Amino acid sequence: MIVGGTVHTLHADPAPASRPRPGAALIEFRDVAKHFFVGGELRPAVENINLEVRSGEIVTLVGPSGCGKSTLLNMAAGMFGPTRGTVLYAGREVGALNHSVGYMTQQDHLLPWRSVLDNIALPLELRGEARDRRVARAQELIAMVGLGGFEMHFPSQLSGGMKKRCALARLLAYDPETLLLDEPFGALDAQLRIGLQMEILRIVRTLGKTALFVTHDLDEAIAMGHRCAVFEGRPGRIATVMDIDLPAERDILTLRFDARYVELTRDLWTRMAPSLGAEANR
Ligand SMILES: Nc1ncnc2c1ncn2[C@@H]1O[C@H](COP(=O)(O)OP(=O)(O)O)[C@@H](O)[C@H]1O
Ligand SMILES: [Mg+2]
Repeated sequence: MIVGGTVHTLHADPAPASRPRPGAALIEFRDVAKHFFVGGELRPAVENINLEVRSGEIVTLVGPSGCGKSTLLNMAAGMFGPTRGTVLYAGREVGALNHSVGYMTQQDHLLPWRSVLDNIALPLELRGEARDRRVARAQELIAMVGLGGFEMHFPSQLSGGMKKRCALARLLAYDPETLLLDEPFGALDAQLRIGLQMEILRIVRTLGKTALFVTHDLDEAIAMGHRCAVFEGRPGRIATVMDIDLPAERDILTLRFDARYVELTRDLWTRMAPSLGAEANR
């Protein structure tokens, strides 16, 4: 698995022997609760989580901060198990690190002694690709994330947004079956954000990937998702799962003028309004 660009276990082929059928349940949270010890006391972070992420779809997660979105991603990645209930991946309980997922955490975890190019090329190097091929692929990814001209820079010489883009490019170089993305575009300007959103949609659609995508941007949750799980409260629960009945092949640039998109975002904003007010008053 790769976490934010950090390889935890080295696998020549990260894809499992049998690919899940498109539409089959890939990640399943069944009656999941997770409690953490905080100040000597066991406190619930999430409760009653039932969610199925099907092969080939993007499920976006939205909700107030602290409601357990990252906790769900951590459990899908096998960083830790649930306190109650079961987390399954491709029908099997996630016991240890899940090698089928690439996880881009909120931290970038770049290797400080490696250049941008060498950070991004690392998964290809581990897979044994020849130098010219891995440089060519890394250059493609560098162009895609807008880091052209920074190939030889080290992470300490990059801005926060650039580090995120570098970590995303490295995740894509690893080419995992499932992407776990935790607010991947947080600090990016609009142009780059749209470019990367289109790229993730394209990758998922054309390569049959699956993604669990956390965002605090409600418009992005609709634009990127096939379904959107809306969290509420502390401990976090899933209040509702919205079906986003927009075509899988969607154009991010013109989506904002689409009547159904406008309706869905209005619906999500309305559902979220009470918790948004509570956040502002905290
Ligand atoms: N490793 C941990 N140890 C203790 N508490 C944690 C840990 N991870 C998360 N929490 C707590 O669980 C709750 C949910 O956190 P998190 O999943 O990070 O929420 P979100 O991603 O929605 O902002 C928070 O109250 C947080 O403080
Ligand atoms: Mg989080």
